[in-house]
Amino acid sequence: MQTVKIKKAKKLKGVCIAPPDKSVSQRAVLISALSNGQVRVDNFLDCDDCRRAIDALRSMGIKISLKKTASYVDTLFVHGKGLQGLKKARHDLYIGNSGTTMRLITGILAGQDFKSVLSADSSLSVRPMKRITIPLKAMGARIKARIKAKQEYPPLIIYGRDLKSISYSMPVKSAQVKSCILLAALFAQGTTRVKEQIKTRDHTERMLRLFKAGICVKGLNVSIKKVKVLKSPKRFFVPGDISSVAFFIVGATLLKGSSLKLKRVGLNPTRIYLLKILKRMGAKIEILKTGANLKAFEPYADIRVLGAALKATTIKENEVAYCIDELPILCVAACFAKGITKIINAGELRVKETDRIYSMVTNLRKMGADIKNEDNNLIINGTGVLFGAQVESFGDHRTAMSMIIAGLMASGQTTVKNCSCINKSFPEFMKILKNITELT
Ligand code: S3P
Repeated sequence: MQTVKIKKAKKLKGVCIAPPDKSVSQRAVLISALSNGQVRVDNFLDCDDCRRAIDALRSMGIKISLKKTASYVDTLFVHGKGLQGLKKARHDLYIGNSGTTMRLITGILAGQDFKSVLSADSSLSVRPMKRITIPLKAMGARIKARIKAKQEYPPLIIYGRDLKSISYSMPVKSAQVKSCILLAALFAQGTTRVKEQIKTRDHTERMLRLFKAGICVKGLNVSIKKVKVLKSPKRFFVPGDISSVAFFIVGATLLKGSSLKLKRVGLNPTRIYLLKILKRMGAKIEILKTGANLKAFEPYADIRVLGAALKATTIKENEVAYCIDELPILCVAACFAKGITKIINAGELRVKETDRIYSMVTNLRKMGADIKNEDNNLIINGTGVLFGAQVESFGDHRTAMSMIIAGLMASGQTTVKNCSCINKSFPEFMKILKNITELT
């Protein structure tokens, strides 16, 4: 899947099952490993990032197996060894490109009684880690990082030791940072308190509750006290990833005459801003009653998307964190929305797998879009046309998939280079897209 060539499509139609959620799958590996006993995780996402989490835990003595229990469905079996069950790895833990694994596992390793070294690929090695090392050091952690211009980067050397609880008001709107602190708190004396500016994705809180941790959430405040054991729930289900089906949702919205049913889409309230934003732009998206399980620890349902004409919107600063992973594909949607769409203060996009402000502006301009950035604001005039061009993933899965969807809308042929990064989160993306695409 190096280079992908795309032609203009007529519509997206049919039914597809949403791939399992990456954020939930990664947390499932980490938290199950710390629980007391066997955990079966149904509908686990087998992708590069989750493999890095599995490999790291295996290197620390956790037995993990991944089996196909039905076609397309992967089931993960983790034999948790309890909160004190991890063993020092015999070598560095290679975390590859996975920012979530890197930041969450650092929280766990800070409270162990051994030293760990976390290394990363070239992209993750230039992503900032001070956002986690500052609160962890306040908890008593000892972590050495590569330092450049006062920022800290992988590799991280973590000298595990006893931790103490803290009360921390988060300066960044980041679920990874919050989760890192909550996982470290499992090993800290007393009650740790975290206060957020906005409620970022709360998968860690939900899963820790499922495992009977001493966690309490009140609005933007989360507190967690040390418990002796995390109790295995034995079995749970990972819903579909709304950030992955976001590409199909936007594709179906933009291509007139589309009718697409997406099954088992995760509808955690902290993740559904894409739907809210698209709906206010005029999208026709319906949450269906069939197949819905809104009472599960992570709610999900089937959704139907029909083609629709869009109008521009402003995505305000406080909304940015709620749809941070969907902003690249929302840039594509904005190219076809009547009027000027603005995305305000999206600086966090600069520290993702690539600088996504740069990648999306550069690529969409090559396709003739009227898009610019003023510092960290994005301004897109929806001209309603794109022209096929040669564009680049910049090694970033979400840039790659966004540009492939842009290609479906563009005249002529679009070539997207370096697409193997899609395996990071959605290995089945091209196969599913081919199945649901009707060409002109
Ligand atoms: C994630 C949180 C977000 C998101 C990332 C996954 C998570 O990152 O962009 O893809 O699983 O917690 P930040 O916490 O850096 O915003």
